[in-house]
Amino acid sequence: MTTQDLRIDADALLARLTELGRIGATGDGGCCRLALTDADRAGRDLVRRWMGESGLQVQVDPVGNLFGYRAGTEDTAPVMTGSHIDTVATGGLYDGNYGVLSGLAVVQALNRAGLKTRRPLVVAAFTNEEGARFQPDMLGSLVYAGGLALAAAHDTRAIDGARLGDELQRIGYLGNAPLPLVRPHAYVELHVEQGPVLDAEGITIGAVRDLQGISWQELTIEGQPNHAGTTPMRLRHDAGFCAAELACFLRALAAEMGGSQVATVGAIDLHPNLINVIAARARLTVDLRNTDEALLCQAEQRLAAHAAALAASEGVRITARRLARFEPVRFDAGIADLIARQAARLGYSQRPMTSGAGHDAQMLARMAPAAMIFVPSVRGISHNPAEYTAPGDLAAGANVLLHTLLELAS
Ligand code: GLV
Ligand code: MN
Ligand code: MN
Repeated sequence: MTTQDLRIDADALLARLTELGRIGATGDGGCCRLALTDADRAGRDLVRRWMGESGLQVQVDPVGNLFGYRAGTEDTAPVMTGSHIDTVATGGLYDGNYGVLSGLAVVQALNRAGLKTRRPLVVAAFTNEEGARFQPDMLGSLVYAGGLALAAAHDTRAIDGARLGDELQRIGYLGNAPLPLVRPHAYVELHVEQGPVLDAEGITIGAVRDLQGISWQELTIEGQPNHAGTTPMRLRHDAGFCAAELACFLRALAAEMGGSQVATVGAIDLHPNLINVIAARARLTVDLRNTDEALLCQAEQRLAAHAAALAASEGVRITARRLARFEPVRFDAGIADLIARQAARLGYSQRPMTSGAGHDAQMLARMAPAAMIFVPSVRGISHNPAEYTAPGDLAAGANVLLHTLLELAS
């Protein structure tokens, strides 16, 4: 058998996705492994065990990033692959997990073939990619790439108030590997698309060339609580109304701007949240994304101007706190071309893609040539227990990863 004929063991990959998905299973086919919770620890323990069983040298760094290292024939800069195993509270089985477990499937395929690459290989599982419990998202890879100081990362507070450094300590993942462990020769991340494009077009592989910018903020509105029955409409300072109005404004803004602009108000808390009390306080999250940095700035500015005008007209106070801000990323064209070539050689249909979601690859792209491989998400559903990718597509993506890594490491 030649190297060109190597394939990953698809059944084993599927079995592992299912097994990892049992940890934090929500009973509806989904998974909840919020970063640095007990469930995340159990998931990490399992992946760490699998890394060891594949003969990888396991290391954990001080932000909890987990690495499995496979030596090459030369002690030179490694090729890295990976993703994350934390999930949102309503996650599926594939987001993140697929990339990490496919990295291990590649290692197992090489082990079976008795093949050693020239460059070392590293399989990584980065901490808190989702940003659902701690913000910003992609926190572990951001620290790894030098974009956030370790001390600031440790001091980050979860939505439940816990301190990130304390949680790392508590679950036993405050490691002491060098930060960064290695400066990769290249980074390739395999991921489900999480959007509808590949599924709608019936294409198996996306060679991801860029990734849109992300702006996360939290708006707090302070109004005046009062009686819902006796307060005339013209005398209200209604935080609840303002939250709803801002959500409607953002929806209209995205529609008006068009292109890749998206806007989401994913969380709203009202206080005191009672039927007959005008809300005293509202807190809402705003997620804005665009592939064009200037347009993303424009969306942020238009939101700020609208919030200021609304605060004046309603007589409330509106303050904004930034939770995450990442510019659009252009991935390495050479690696994206290589992915497209390998997909074609293996007989899979492929197309260039832009990532709508945030990924650890966007952080690694700061320190190494990086690109991503996407496979279809049925009906584009993700961050939802119904997230699904067909087994054949999972296998295809992992085989493209295998051959892309082989070429980069040769
Ligand atoms: C990460 O999953 C994101 O929000 O894009
Ligand atoms: Mn992900
Ligand atoms: Mn996700």
